Amino acid sequence: MTAMIEWNDTLAVGIAEIDQQHRKLIELIQHLQSVDAHPDREFALVEQALDEMVAYTMYHFGTEERLMEEYSYPQDVGHLAQHERFLSDVTNMMESFMAGSHVSAGDIGQYLGNWLIQHIQHTDQQLAAWLHERAPYLLGATHGSRPLE
Ligand SMILES: [Fe+2]
Repeated sequence: MTAMIEWNDTLAVGIAEIDQQHRKLIELIQHLQSVDAHPDREFALVEQALDEMVAYTMYHFGTEERLMEEYSYPQDVGHLAQHERFLSDVTNMMESFMAGSHVSAGDIGQYLGNWLIQHIQHTDQQLAAWLHERAPYLLGATHGSRPLE
């Protein structure tokens, strides 16, 4: 049984757009894990949940990468490398899943969840600190249980 990833305030980076997207990603991972753990799970639903999660991850990386470029973030190369590495790992896991190997959608969700928490707490927090200084208008009240849009 995999542990369910959950949002907590240590994950808030204080940039409204990024925080909102991180929350949405966590929601998509939770959805994937619950679809995968359901006793009557249907392959098509699991596949759909996986696709949604990966598509949103790519969209989210695009947002961060745009901000890095716009505000001339000096550590962009290392940050980008983490995004690329992650996408290639997930692509490999998805291929194994589609090929019917032992990799489950829950495993993929678990991997993404663990990776995301690590990545947010270190790499994204560093980016956010840079943006805080240069683009204070990007800041937002992101604590608490504000619903997703
Ligand atoms: Fe990132």
